[in-house]
Amino acid sequence: MSHDSLSRRTFVGGAAAATALGTLGITPAAVAARDRTAAARGIRRLPGGAPMLRAWQSQVDAYDALAHLSTNENPFGPSEKALEAMTYAFKYSMRYGYPDNNCQQRIADAHGVPRDHVLMGAGSGEILDVVGLTWLAHDKKVVGVEPSYGSVYSHATGIDADTILLPLEADYRQNIERMVDATNRNARDVGFVYLCNPNNPTGVTVTADEVAYLLDNIPEDIPVLIDEAYHHFVEDPAYEESLEYVRQGRRVIVARTFSKIYGMAAMRIGFAIAPPDMIAEMRNYSTGSVNALARWGAVASMDDEPAARRTLEHNRTWREQTRADLEALGYESIPSQTNFFMVDLRQPVAPIRRAFRERNVAVGRDFPPMLNHLRVSIGSEEEMGRFMNAFEDILKTPLMSSQSG
Ligand SMILES: Cc1ncc(COP(=O)(O)O)c(C=O)c1O
Repeated sequence: MSHDSLSRRTFVGGAAAATALGTLGITPAAVAARDRTAAARGIRRLPGGAPMLRAWQSQVDAYDALAHLSTNENPFGPSEKALEAMTYAFKYSMRYGYPDNNCQQRIADAHGVPRDHVLMGAGSGEILDVVGLTWLAHDKKVVGVEPSYGSVYSHATGIDADTILLPLEADYRQNIERMVDATNRNARDVGFVYLCNPNNPTGVTVTADEVAYLLDNIPEDIPVLIDEAYHHFVEDPAYEESLEYVRQGRRVIVARTFSKIYGMAAMRIGFAIAPPDMIAEMRNYSTGSVNALARWGAVASMDDEPAARRTLEHNRTWREQTRADLEALGYESIPSQTNFFMVDLRQPVAPIRRAFRERNVAVGRDFPPMLNHLRVSIGSEEEMGRFMNAFEDILKTPLMSSQSG
């Protein structure tokens, strides 16, 4: 059975619908006949058999028609093992204290830390917010670069804290010496330092030596949040994950997610790994509300290495193929260590992005000040083909190409 057919039919539809229909004594033939009649009247059914409202139909159709290249997702979705585990976990949907396949312990084991070093969140987005709530009270500031994963900064300003944002270098690297300098000059006001590694939206890494330099040259009581959402994709040997600093008891919080390599973005599960006293402080601000399906799916994902490897290979192939195709058309892109890359269009991307959207291709948003760079996530082979077709179509029109420079 293909991955796609498993995900569409077995998950939810299979288990739940079969049980429901069996109980009601409705035969599959009767269901098929009903659905044919409904389809003829323009009504589609949800996996459980309920009619889909017309408003939802158009929303679903519009969404499904898009090539999804704007939010750095995994086009394969969860692995088959994760889908099976999540399907199983449905039976706990009505429970609170259900078995969760020992999720927190399994995450701890997989990362070589004790259980009390782990805090789970509804996506790593929740973890980033919790770090803000924990360390930005009393008008503190977060130090980081721009552009980076902007929700850290918007959350900070949303809770009336502040940001100290540094520009990227001309080669799009984060200037760690400047980050150290800004942190030391503002040490009394700094709540934490944010290091997105590799950085979103550029796909550029900070080397292991640079991370060490940062940690060794700022006051040791200032927390450093290292966002490693994309670390699985990195192949540069100069890069290292930062878990070792946590094991040493440094004031480092490593944020991770199941949304990217494991394809579970909509399931909402991520986690922090940090020294236990920091985890205890963060816990005061976290909901701890990670759902049963996500927990079971997460554990199964970590056990499914072949699925992760397939994603990595697909990602590398299509990222480099697409970058080469763009280069052949005269457009440079930034070498990336992630499941997205940025291409320099030499003109503002906003109108071009709209043109892509008219062709049902969703590509990344504005990342000031890099307003001439388009961020493209790596999708399926079919989606990447649609992207290149749309690109050639849009960038060859006189209106778009005459604005270069
Ligand atoms: C760098 C980075 N950190 C965190 C997140 C949040 O991901 P999630 O909340 O799905 O775990 C994202 C999502 O795109 C991201 O790019």
